[in-house]
Amino acid sequence: MSEPLVLGIESSCDETSVGVVRGTQLLANEVASSVDLHARFGGVVPEVASRAHLEAIVPTLQRALDKAGVEPADLDAIAVTAGPGLMGSLVVGVAAAKGLALAWNKPLYGLNHLVGHVGVDMLEHGPLAQPSLGLLVSGGHTSLLRVGDITGDIEELGSTTDDAAGEAYDKVARLLGLGYPGGPIIDKVAAEGDPSAIRFPRGLTSQKDMERHRFDFSFSGLKTAVARWVEQREAEGKDVPVADVCASFQEAVADVLTAKTVDAARHFGVTEVILGGGVAANSRLRGLLEERCQANNLMLRRPRPGLCTDNGAMIAVLGAAVIVAGRAPSSLDFGAVSGLPVTQVVV
Ligand code: KG4
Ligand code: ZN
Repeated sequence: MSEPLVLGIESSCDETSVGVVRGTQLLANEVASSVDLHARFGGVVPEVASRAHLEAIVPTLQRALDKAGVEPADLDAIAVTAGPGLMGSLVVGVAAAKGLALAWNKPLYGLNHLVGHVGVDMLEHGPLAQPSLGLLVSGGHTSLLRVGDITGDIEELGSTTDDAAGEAYDKVARLLGLGYPGGPIIDKVAAEGDPSAIRFPRGLTSQKDMERHRFDFSFSGLKTAVARWVEQREAEGKDVPVADVCASFQEAVADVLTAKTVDAARHFGVTEVILGGGVAANSRLRGLLEERCQANNLMLRRPRPGLCTDNGAMIAVLGAAVIVAGRAPSSLDFGAVSGLPVTQVVV
């Protein structure tokens, strides 16, 4: 089957989303977010997220089918996020997908959310080069990947040893009192600041760290450095230049992510870089990675910001690629796996 028509369901965190694709062509991508319900708690409340998924899943599905102009009978398969993510959230999408697969008599593919992030650019620029070097930056994960084949050959070259990049954004936003989720807010506030105002640390880049952790990341020291800087400033009775702090923090994150990505691409002789995950929407990360890839003759694939955060279309297009590769569907008794490793594409 060369261009399968696939419905993709995503419910791993606080977005209930259903996408429809034909091969690598995007037909619909409906997203219902419960982010506003969590904002006052400063982070996702799992029970609240699960309930919101349960309420949103059927209306979102109906909107996606309408938008795509597709009848259930036309579908070749259903794909769903099986992990990683919040258990109570994953279960809603998986149970819905199993019900639909049974009712409509379609094969079901339980897929890896993180691999969906890395492959979403197929919707914009077609199949990926083999191999590619993936920089995965989301709210819960930060890794460098060697992607031999997005449907089944993924090697993790390095990952964060503590906080994920998105988590660092969310924590720094909280300590600056900017709200949740922190990424988009810091991105916006940073535009008014000076990225060279404060030199924050670049984690795991010292010569000693590079020997053992060349392709790993660390962001908790950076978060602490921002907290200390702000405390010090307040103790001195001075105003905190929030825009400068945001811009300088963002510069530290983008600098270390892009430097290690380019280093890994060169080290492993991979000439195409793919950016994926919620933090891939970040303007400075996108700009600096483009600059550094160009300077090193690396081809960069960046999905548009709207496709970087959690969505069903990334699951649908990964499902289509998995089908084209001839991989077997999941057996209907698979479970949701909250800690699913990035190396397992299909459960
Ligand atoms: O991939 P994602 O939507 O959900 C997970 O799988 O975790 O990523 C969410 C993360 C959040 O931490 C959010 O703050 C961050 O992505 N994010 C951003 C931006 N937009 C979302 N971080 C930096 N800049 C942005 N523009
Ligand atoms: Zn995600």
